[in-house]
Amino acid sequence: MTDYRGIRLALEGLTEGIPYPIANLANAAALLFEQMPGLNWAGFYLTRVRPDGGRELVLGPFQGRPACIVIPWGRGVCGTAAARNAAQLVADVHEFPGHIACDAASASEAVIPLHGPDGSVAGVLDLDSPRRGRFSEEDLAGLMTLVPCLEACLPAVCPEAGT
Ligand code: SME
Repeated sequence: MTDYRGIRLALEGLTEGIPYPIANLANAAALLFEQMPGLNWAGFYLTRVRPDGGRELVLGPFQGRPACIVIPWGRGVCGTAAARNAAQLVADVHEFPGHIACDAASASEAVIPLHGPDGSVAGVLDLDSPRRGRFSEEDLAGLMTLVPCLEACLPAVCPEAGT
């Protein structure tokens, strides 16, 4: 069983008082990748508001293989979590309609929405595993305890905004 209390304390220790969002999210991804057994990808997608007002997810700091850079709002597991503002636990990604396969080894996935100060979805935490059914409700509950600290790490605006 993953030591979520230990991860939370380490995450707080690494990030509190550090005013650099990319550094904090990079360390958060590294910590989760190191401390959670059986992952092949751990990282963040950040919400970008396009000039036309639509939203999309842009790749943020992560550990694992290179990943797709832009995910349309509502597409894949990440886009679904963002659009529904609801965590997604997917035991078998091959059965998830519209799943975006960044790493063919990925078999299960957990995605948790992260919010900005105004309550809107400012990004997501995305965890992948090559093992089917890797993520349990207990994992989800443990990961949710990290959300306040992760939300405090988020940049005020997506670094890609305005580009
Ligand atoms: N599988 C994700 C895309 C991101 S990668 O897993 C890193 C999805 O369907 O949203």
